[in-house]
Amino acid sequence: MNTQKTILVTGGCGFIGSNFVTMLIEEHPEFKVINLDSLTYAGNLENLEDIMDEPQYEFIRGDICDENLVSKILSENKVDGIINFAAESHVDRSISGPKVFVDTNITGTLVLLQQAVANKTKRFLQVSTDEVYGSLGDDGEFTEESPIKPNSPYSVSKASADYFVQAYQHTYGLETIITRCSNNYGRYQFPEKLIPLMFNNARTNKKLPVYGDGKNVRDWIHVYDHCRAILLAYSMGESGNIYNVGADCEKTNLEIINLILTYLGKPESLIEFVKDRLGHDQRYAIDSSKIRNTLGWKPTVDFDSGIIKTLSWYYNNKDWVDNVTSGEYKNYYSEMYENR
Ligand code: NAD
Ligand code: DAU
Repeated sequence: MNTQKTILVTGGCGFIGSNFVTMLIEEHPEFKVINLDSLTYAGNLENLEDIMDEPQYEFIRGDICDENLVSKILSENKVDGIINFAAESHVDRSISGPKVFVDTNITGTLVLLQQAVANKTKRFLQVSTDEVYGSLGDDGEFTEESPIKPNSPYSVSKASADYFVQAYQHTYGLETIITRCSNNYGRYQFPEKLIPLMFNNARTNKKLPVYGDGKNVRDWIHVYDHCRAILLAYSMGESGNIYNVGADCEKTNLEIINLILTYLGKPESLIEFVKDRLGHDQRYAIDSSKIRNTLGWKPTVDFDSGIIKTLSWYYNNKDWVDNVTSGEYKNYYSEMYENR
């Protein structure tokens, strides 16, 4: 008898999705994985090179907004559950062009929910973010009870999707889980985000564009620990619940940048303070006691070793960085930074 469960993972060619799919294939033979990804600028098949030929894995190129395609995948494959990573994920891009954030993050999530109900898919996990809670001052941490106060077009789109997920649980009885995680670091992150962007610039002796005074605080977690939390919440979480995920590791942006400079042996003079991000959230900090106490999750990668491993990965995988920063990235970079 085949006891393998089939999961539809969306956005599995992006940063966190590809780390998640690789973890499932390498460590969890009990799952078959179908990866639905439209391969936007942020999606890259190379991220899955290690596992792409495994019989447990199937890739489908397509858009989560395409309801016929989603319905066909769910009905033809007896999918047990959906884990939704697919999103436009970059705050800066949401400030310059919010429409696609509404399309993918809100409409796309709604299509997945509708088709999950129509096809009697059992479980739905929405990969959400701590940014739905807005910004903190010097003290305090976000709990699952914190008010939803998103500030950027990106975080508004994610908060809106979360509300749709909750409505589908309440109204149609779909089993849903929402995870809200803090900033991830690790291999395969697109170099529009702080760590790989600063690493790539410093390595090539380009200026490091620090927004504002560089004192904004982010709470960092290794992507592998986030992936473990998602799988645990999907497998063991109680339907209707939200789980915050974080590793209690707050750092200012300047602390992160200085670590990168030290690793590469580059001078601080590369740092350039530039015009701040509009509406820049000051500080995020996550209280993850609920998932720790109810599901027994805890982070396993400590920051000091995780960050060195990550920087070494970018150092040793220059071809990957060169590939993803050729072409369209050059236009993005010059529009974003050259007259800032
Ligand atoms: P990413 O931008 O690296 O990857 C997004 C993936 O989604 C890409 O592979 C892209 O091709 C795909 N995609 C985009 N639009 C699509 C569509 N319409 N249909 C199908 N596929 C589509 O993002 P990430 O950093 O890996 O984030 C993944 C998820 O985790 C997002 O939902 C994000 O909100 C959430 N999240 C990210 C972080 C973080 O630190 N990066 C933290 C918390 C939560
Ligand atoms: O908190 C979770 C969120 O973390 C996720 O939901 C998002 O998908 C993810 O992109 C991330 O959002 P941030 O806005 O925190 O990440 P980003 O890497 O864009 O920026 C981190 C900090 O670094 C932020 O304070 C802005 C600053 N920054 C960023 C860039 C790209 C700079 O100072 N200069 C830069 O060039």
